[in-house]
Amino acid sequence: MNFAYQLFKKMAFSMDAEKAHTLSLNLLAHYPHLLSFVQGELDSEVSKFELQVGRNRWKFPVGLAAGLDKNGEAIDFFSRIFFGAVEVGTVTPLAQAGNERPRLFRYIEEESLRNCMGFNNEGADVLFDNVMGANRNKRPLGINLGKNKLTPDKEAPRDYQKLYRKFAGLADYLVVNVSSPNTPGLRDLQKASELEEIFKALEDLRKEQDCPLYLKIAPDINTEDLPSIIEVVKKYKLEGLMATNTTIMPERGIGGVSGKLLYEKAHHVRSLCLDHLKETPEVEFIGIGGFSHFDQMWEYWKNGGRALQIYSAFIFQGPSLLKEIARELEIKMSYYGVSNFEDLLKEIQSP
Ligand SMILES: Cc1cc2nc3c(=O)[nH]c(=O)nc-3n(C[C@H](O)[C@H](O)[C@H](O)COP(=O)(O)O)c2cc1C
Repeated sequence: MNFAYQLFKKMAFSMDAEKAHTLSLNLLAHYPHLLSFVQGELDSEVSKFELQVGRNRWKFPVGLAAGLDKNGEAIDFFSRIFFGAVEVGTVTPLAQAGNERPRLFRYIEEESLRNCMGFNNEGADVLFDNVMGANRNKRPLGINLGKNKLTPDKEAPRDYQKLYRKFAGLADYLVVNVSSPNTPGLRDLQKASELEEIFKALEDLRKEQDCPLYLKIAPDINTEDLPSIIEVVKKYKLEGLMATNTTIMPERGIGGVSGKLLYEKAHHVRSLCLDHLKETPEVEFIGIGGFSHFDQMWEYWKNGGRALQIYSAFIFQGPSLLKEIARELEIKMSYYGVSNFEDLLKEIQSP
């Protein structure tokens, strides 16, 4: 971990977790070069790390997961460093305050977080303006969509319609998020019948304005439901599936746990997803949840994974984690005698 980030982390970790988060984002929104100049920037033109992810070309196989920049305030910063793609949100149609504080907790020794934020965000109009004014540094920008807390489950499809209409022309991909544990009833929408209602409601809009659309699921789904969820993904020709969101661990308290404590569970669900999707190359898969060092990513890539996202590891290790992954990948490329990441994947994934 480099010195600049160590100093930054020391200050941030001496504060309440959410306060530190808000201050850091503010700082990075105003000074996007702040940590990137010591970090080095990813060549924005052509890169040996590029990866085709559905219809988007990621600059690096590791992207930023949703929830860190909910309102799209610091897109310039996150897309300037080594993230291959940046996902903002979750955004809901109307602004909402989220749950009561404190609602973000660190487990420092375990490099994990627990949050019960409850989709606090400034709403679709503010995110729209922020994205319009942002420098994306040629990175794909994903927008993660959620329903307002006060919207009854039955009316959830209408919230997703509003958000799709607003952002389909602006985002490089969209994500239907039904996997946060912090909005009451939201995860019930992961049932195939409820998912059908949402994607049926989006069908006409998708014909008018086609934007790659993903579904993000929780690690706590009943894994027997996975085949029917994947059937919905295929039936509605989604761009892909994303797994996973945070997990519930009631022994730690309410909310969702992320980071190292999530790894095993997320890894299990990801492996099942990759297995189910083996014969379905038209469905993209993006792995998330608990990745904290290169070896875990390497295992994911060897098992058929392609793009992945991180959140918690970035908080604990900072931008140098991305640089470290790049360095490790270069070593692997030279070992396998290939010159780019896509060829490396072919090499390690060939039967
Ligand atoms: C504080 C916090 C807020 C989050 N907010 C969202 C969110 O708004 N939408 C979402 O889809 N995921 C959200 N997530 C989940 C992350 O995108 C990711 O799926 C999860 O943290 C697992 O990845 P990780 O172990 O690398 O952190 C949030 C995670 C954290 C820690």
